Amino acid sequence: MIAVGCDHGGYDLKQEILRYLEEQNIEYADYGCYSRESVDYPVYARKVAEAVKDGACEKGILICGTGIGISIAANRIAGIRAALCADCFSAQATREHNDANILALGARVVGPGLAVKITDTFLHTDFSGDERHRRRIELIEG
Ligand code: RB5
Repeated sequence: MIAVGCDHGGYDLKQEILRYLEEQNIEYADYGCYSRESVDYPVYARKVAEAVKDGACEKGILICGTGIGISIAANRIAGIRAALCADCFSAQATREHNDANILALGARVVGPGLAVKITDTFLHTDFSGDERHRRRIELIEG
C-alpha cells in the first residue's frame, strides 16, 4: 500500500500519479488534499509520514509546489526518510543507498511525464542492503 498526499500546489500532479498507480494495479491510500483550495502542506506531510511510520503503508509519495516544504515536514517524523527527487538517477540512488521510504515531488519543478518516471523508478528499486548503507541509516536514526 502506497500513501499519497499533497497540498494545493501538488493536487494536479497527484491526480496524474494516482492514474499511474491505478494503471499499474498498485494499491494506494489517498490522504488528501482533495482540491486546489489552499491548504497547509505540513498537515498532509504528517498524515502520510505517520501512515508509513506506523506500517499502514510501506512507502509514501508527497507532492507540493516545490517538494521542499512537504519533504522538510515529513523528515521531522522519526523513521521517515523523505527524498525530494527531480530526476530518475536520484530516485534510484535514494532507494539503493538511503532506503528512502517517502518520495517527494515538486509539481512546479517537474512535468507529469518525468514525475511518473521518477515514481516508477522509486517504487521499483530495492534498498541495496549493503552494510555501509545500513550503518549510515542507523547513524541518521541516532
Ligand atoms: C504553496 O504555495 C507552496 O508554498 C507549497 O506548495 C510548497 O512549494 C512549499 O514548499
